[in-house]
Amino acid sequence: MNKIKMLYEGKGKKLYSTEKKGILIAEFKDDLTAFNAEKKGSESGKGELNCKISSFLFEMLEKKGFKTHYIKRIDSQNILCKQVKIIPIEVVTRNVATGSLTKRLGIKEGTILPFALVEFYYKDDALGDPIINDDHCKLLGIIQNCEELDFLRSQAKQINSVLKDFFDSKNLKLIDFKLEFGRDTEGNIVLADEISPDSCRFWDKDTNEKLDKDRFRQDLGNLKLAYQEVLNRIMA
Ligand code: TMP
Ligand code: ASP
Repeated sequence: MNKIKMLYEGKGKKLYSTEKKGILIAEFKDDLTAFNAEKKGSESGKGELNCKISSFLFEMLEKKGFKTHYIKRIDSQNILCKQVKIIPIEVVTRNVATGSLTKRLGIKEGTILPFALVEFYYKDDALGDPIINDDHCKLLGIIQNCEELDFLRSQAKQINSVLKDFFDSKNLKLIDFKLEFGRDTEGNIVLADEISPDSCRFWDKDTNEKLDKDRFRQDLGNLKLAYQEVLNRIMA
């Protein structure tokens, strides 16, 4: 399968059409953005690491029965995936308080949440991805019925259970992560986008060292080393 035409360029990936209708190639970029792209950077080799980490995790979720857009990894920086229409909701699941949750609600950084918290954010850069509730989703017409939101919540919680246990076995704490879903040609909602240190927070279980994009957001340095460490641990 070959790249025919670039259809879309996002902050972390480029999407290309292929010879086959409905099948796309997603290329993972080295670019880094934070705070709604107010902060920009690039790290050579980051795209490859995310591509490998995300592919591994999508393969694991597929094996567990979750429906996703993922087909296969073609090379170090590109995957083959089904074309889907992305639902403009960022589904964030949190196990430990940090980031915007601590800022918004004053919950102390590092607090272990008594249950997995699922939040919806409206995927709209111009608006700064505001947090939204079920009624906002209905109002904006981005879902067809309430059952769809219940489905997203339930998928997020189930995926969290699988990933949390998996990362725990690799001596990593899954602090929080963001998922995106899309509609396939038959209208089914499937997991899409990526699962990588760009879209998740991982802390080392023993030291709480941050092994994710917070290294870029907070200028902690050694971003690639951290992503490589995540890849090494999940492959081990
Ligand atoms: P937050 O604490 O900044 O709201 O982030 C929660 C999680 O979602 C964290 O794992 C990072 C991820 N995330 C994205 O992948 N993209 C985004 O645009 C934002 C704001 C967060
Ligand atoms: N705000 C996102 C993040 O920090 C990235 C971005 O919007 O540029 O993960």
